[in-house]
Amino acid sequence: MNTKDRVTQEELLEKRAESIKTMFGSIVKVYDLLNALLSLNFDKSWRKFAARVSGIKPDTKVLDVCTGTGDLAISYSKLLNGKGLVVGSDYCHDMLRYGLPKIKKRHLEDKIKFIEADTLHLPFNDDSFEVSTVAFGIRNVVDLEAGIKEMRRVVRPNGRVVILEFSQPTNFLFRRIYFLYFTKILPVIGKLISRSSVPREPRLSPPRCKFDAYTYLPHSVLAFPDKLGLKSKMEKCGLKDVKIFERTFGIVTVHIGEKPPASSIVS
Ligand SMILES: C[S@@+](CC[C@H](N)C(=O)[O-])C[C@H]1O[C@@H](n2cnc3c(N)ncnc32)[C@H](O)[C@@H]1O
Repeated sequence: MNTKDRVTQEELLEKRAESIKTMFGSIVKVYDLLNALLSLNFDKSWRKFAARVSGIKPDTKVLDVCTGTGDLAISYSKLLNGKGLVVGSDYCHDMLRYGLPKIKKRHLEDKIKFIEADTLHLPFNDDSFEVSTVAFGIRNVVDLEAGIKEMRRVVRPNGRVVILEFSQPTNFLFRRIYFLYFTKILPVIGKLISRSSVPREPRLSPPRCKFDAYTYLPHSVLAFPDKLGLKSKMEKCGLKDVKIFERTFGIVTVHIGEKPPASSIVS
């Protein structure tokens, strides 16, 4: 690839990242509602599970990247039971803005801090956290490996990177029914509800977005590496002992990898 091609490639990635950011900004008002509705309220238990299996100890510092409205950060903070600190980062300002009242309502302002940041350029020193985690976010990061490497960089040696993400169910019959729902029914419900949330006055409209978030969702999941594919990506990004936990017939999976001691890291 020559320099000219590389610049074009970078520009394309930047444009894609901008479109994805705009897309999330456009659904922020209905994001939590649709999460609960479209997952039949399973989403909360998936996040709780991810926090639980991460094996965090009291007084732990956790980073939740692509935190959105902060639900995974809240699950971790509850598990820490008033100790430690959870930092939630996201590049979409509106997502964080909608998450803040949830933190305040639970009196967790001192225990959860939000910061506007791109997962590809985290504003933290190396080895700053015990755990870096992400729920349904890494799939949207335009450079998956660079995102995982950033998550690895900011955890201390022997710390963990925990990824909760949609995956593809393995049972043949369940898979067929699920894909019918996921690719045909879910986008229609998502579109109807997110469109109806758009205010009528043009000056109040959310940013225009060429993607429809709930059509993009199944496409992005189908294009994402499968369970073993993600495991090997994590290994390639310098994580070891990657463990996989499936939930709800394999609709979602939690991957946990450990950052090796400093001397054995190969970048
Ligand atoms: C599907 S939402 C997940 C939100 C939350 N983690 C949850 O469990 O509901 C994906 C989030 O990733 C964020 N995101 C995508 N790419 C990002 C990036 N490169 N840096 C920071 N945030 C990003 C979006 O703004 C959005 O809030």
